[in-house]
Parts: sequence; structure tokens; C-alpha cells
Amino acid sequence: MFPILHKERLAPNINKFVIKAPLVTRNCQPGQFVIVRVHERGERIPLTIADFNREEGTITLIVQEVGKTTYQMGELKAGDALADVIGPLGHPADVKKLGTVVTIGGGVGTAIVYPETKAFKEAGNYVISIIGFRNKELVILEEEMRKYSDELYITTDDGSYGRKGFVSDQLRDLIEQGKKIDLVIAIGPAIMMKVVCDLTRPYNIKTIVSLNSLMMDGTAMCGGCRVEVGGETKFTCVDGPEFDGHLVDFDILMKRLSTYREQERLALERYLKEKEEMAHGSL
Ligand code: FAD
Ligand code: FES
Repeated sequence: MFPILHKERLAPNINKFVIKAPLVTRNCQPGQFVIVRVHERGERIPLTIADFNREEGTITLIVQEVGKTTYQMGELKAGDALADVIGPLGHPADVKKLGTVVTIGGGVGTAIVYPETKAFKEAGNYVISIIGFRNKELVILEEEMRKYSDELYITTDDGSYGRKGFVSDQLRDLIEQGKKIDLVIAIGPAIMMKVVCDLTRPYNIKTIVSLNSLMMDGTAMCGGCRVEVGGETKFTCVDGPEFDGHLVDFDILMKRLSTYREQERLALERYLKEKEEMAHGSL
């Protein structure tokens, strides 16, 4: 069992967990993830290691409630434990001194880009961060990102905080202002990563994305996470999760992400109904 030492609500439907997992912290690096089971009979879900403390043997996970398992996890509190935390999985981010690096986080993707922002800053880069959210209420990790960014831009879709618009609008402005950018790292919804890649491709700005494919085993056995990169089939779990965004077929990724949408909707509906019935004592 993996004890939860701390839990905090960062925004509606987004929780931060600090979890004791000393074997994971021994070797983990920015860009890697773990596969978690909330309960013994629960499904396995991939979550990025948003932060870690090797001395204390803890990892931080930041989790958005989107379906049955992430809602179940959201009900846990400090003192509870996760059944499994397997990792670190995937390749670490390729962190080095390049010059100017732009890190982009969309929604909960900000939690995934945060450890890389920190690592690229610590490697001596000039770091420009752009983080985008639907509205002010959903903004997370602003102070943490500011700490490791030479410039930080925040966008909201509705203009309730920061600049009104999308992260790509801010990136377009930076490019058009003639800012020399050596690398872009974009992490968020597939459509956001696709738009960023379409923007940087004509300027030949290398762009790394972290793919959020559906996963089960995380060890290249089930094939669930396969994606097309440069015309080849890759497994996000062992070949990624980071890839050259200009080579990723985002249309296939988005199609595969929606494969089980109806089943996922039904599972969440059933779970919330059972919870409500239990709360009213009818089960
Ligand atoms: P489901 O019932 O599985 O899904 C409900 C709805 O959520 C779906 O209809 C779909 O719209 C959406 N969804 C499901 N799976 C994904 C997915 N993989 N990506 C995007 N949308 C999805 N989430 C976090 O909150 N924090 C993280 O740090 C994080 N890191 C990840 C790292 C990797 C390598 C990968 C592949 C995914 C990561 N995710 C992260 C996404 C997370 O794994 C999913 O949100 C989770 O599996 C959903 O499980 P569920 O049962 O709650 O919802
Ligand atoms: Fe099964 Fe990658 S998660 S092959």
C-alpha cells in the first residue's frame, strides 16, 4: 500500500496528492509517470510525477477528476492509501542547456509541464512559460511556475484571468515578435498540442509533446497506447510519453482517445448513482 501523506484541492476537480513511494523516488526523473490503482480491484491509470522528494521518498501527483477512477481517487484523503503505484515509467525528458525554452501547459497539463519547467530552468535555460485554463477558477500552479520561469504568461478562454484566448495566441505573439526560441514543450489536450505544432512547424522550432494515450499495463504488452509517429507505430508507455510533435499523427491519437467514450460515460454515471444511493441509505 502507498500512503497518502497530504491531499489538497487545487481547483474544482483538481487534487494534489503527496504519496510515500520510496522505490519510485529512487530513480525517477522529470517527464516520467507512474501507473496507479486506487483499489485492489480498480483499473490502472497513468499519472505524471509532478514533483518528487528523494530524501523523504515522496512523489506528488496532480489529478483532474474526469471519470470513474479519478473521481474515486478524489475521494481519498490524507491517511488513506493507494493500492499500487508502479514506476517510474517512460523515458525521462531530455533536459539540457539549449538557450530559450518555451514550456506550455494546458489545464492539468500544467502539472505535467511543471517538473520540466523546473528542470530546464535549473539546467541554465531562459525559460518562458505559457499556461492556459478555461477560466480563473481552474488556474493551478501559478506561483510554482513563476518561480522557475523568466517570463510567465497566463491565458484563460473567457478572459477572467490573464490574457483572453489560448496558449497558442501567446506563443504566436512571441514568435511574431521575433523571439529566438530553441525548443517548445507543449503538454495538454491533444487538440492544443496539435495547434501548437501546426504553429511552430513553419518556423522549424523543435516542439516536444507528451501524449496522453489510453493505457493499461504501461509495459508495451496491451497495445492500448499505440500512436503513429513519423509513419511508425510507437507505444506511448515505453517509447514516450514525449515525442517530436511535428511527427505525431494527432488525428489518430484523438480518434483513439474517444474509442471508449460511451463506456467511460456509463461507468461514471453508474458510479455517481451508486454513491448517491449509498448516501441516501438505499443500497
Ligand atoms: P475515464 O473513464 O477513463 O475517462 C473519462 C473521460 O476523460 C474520457 O471520456 C476522456 O474524455 C477523458 N480521458 C480519459 N483518459 C484520458 C487520457 N489519457 N487523456 C486525456 N483525457 C482522457 N491526468 C491527470 O489528471 N494528471 C496527470 O498527471 C496525468 N498524467 C498522465 C500521464 C500519461 C503518460 C498519460 C497517458 C495520461 C495522463 N493523465 C493524467 C490522464 C489520466 O490518465 C486520465 O485522465 C485517467 O486515466 C482517466 O481515468 P478515469 O477512469 O477517471 O476516466
Ligand atoms: Fe499497454 Fe502501452 S499501455 S502497450
